[in-house]
Amino acid sequence: MTRRGIPDKFTVDPAAPTFGPENLETGKGLAGGNPFQRLQHSGYLRAPLDKPLFQIADLEPNGDGLHDFYRQRLADFLARGPLEIEIGFGDGNFLLDRVVKHPERQFIGFELRWHLLRHVLKAAENIPLPNLWVSADDARYALARSLPPGCATVMHVLLPDPWWKRRHQHKRMFTDYSVILLARGLAPDGILHVRTDVPGYAELIEDVIRASGLFRPHDDSLAACLADTIPTTREAWCYENGFPIFTFYFQRLAR
Ligand SMILES: C[S@@+](CC[C@H](N)C(=O)[O-])C[C@H]1O[C@@H](n2cnc3c(N)ncnc32)[C@H](O)[C@@H]1O
Repeated sequence: MTRRGIPDKFTVDPAAPTFGPENLETGKGLAGGNPFQRLQHSGYLRAPLDKPLFQIADLEPNGDGLHDFYRQRLADFLARGPLEIEIGFGDGNFLLDRVVKHPERQFIGFELRWHLLRHVLKAAENIPLPNLWVSADDARYALARSLPPGCATVMHVLLPDPWWKRRHQHKRMFTDYSVILLARGLAPDGILHVRTDVPGYAELIEDVIRASGLFRPHDDSLAACLADTIPTTREAWCYENGFPIFTFYFQRLAR
C-alpha cells in the first residue's frame, strides 16, 4: 500500500534555505510566520488569564508594560514541577493523556494550527488541567527566545511533518540549528522522544543528532521511563494500515 502524495524518497538538499539564528529577529522562515503577527489569528492581544494559553508575544515589550507580568506568570508555571514539552501535538490525544496521567508534571504543547489548538483549549475547559499550557507559536522560536535553557526534562516530537518539498525544508524540526534549540531546552540527561513514520526522516534524525554531539545515541532502555505513553492519532493510523513507526530516545548530554 502506498500513501497518496508521499514521495518514494526523502531528500535533503544541503543548499536549500534553512531556519537559523538570523531568522529570530524578523520571524522570516518560521513555520506560521512572524510570531507577533500570529496574534491576529488568535484574536488575543494578550493571553487571557483564564486560559492555559502561552504566547511568545506576551513576553516581549509592546508598550503596555505587561511583559514582566507575563514573564513572571511563565516562571511560576515552570516552577511548579518537571516540564514536558510536546511539539506539534495535532489533535492533542497524546498530550491530554499525559497531562491527565501526570498531574505532578507540567506540560507545554506547541501546535501551529489554530483549529487543533482550540480543540485542546476546549478540552481543558471541561476538565480542570492546571498543569497544561498550549501555544500556537513555532516551537523553535519559543525554545530560542522564550523558554529558559534546560527547562524541560522530556521533549516529545511525534510524527513531525517531513516537509517533503525543497522550499519547505526550512520548516523541518530536525536540522542542525533546530537540534541545537531542542538541546538548549532540555535539562542535562533530559530525554528527546521522537517517533516518525518516514524511513528517510528516521535516518536523517539519527544523523543530525549524532553530528550535533549534544545527545547520547538512541537508547531503547530509556523507553521504560515513558512506558505509559499512548500512540498519537497519526501513529495509530499507521499501525492500522501496516506502516512502520521508528521510535527514538536520545538523552541530552550533561554540559
Ligand atoms: C504530521 S502532524 C502530527 C500530529 C500528531 N503529533 C500526531 O502524530 O497525530 C505534525 C504537526 O506538527 C505541527 N507543527 C509543525 N511544525 C511545528 C512547529 N515548528 N511548532 C509547532 N507545531 C508544529 C503541525 O501543525 C502538525 O499539526
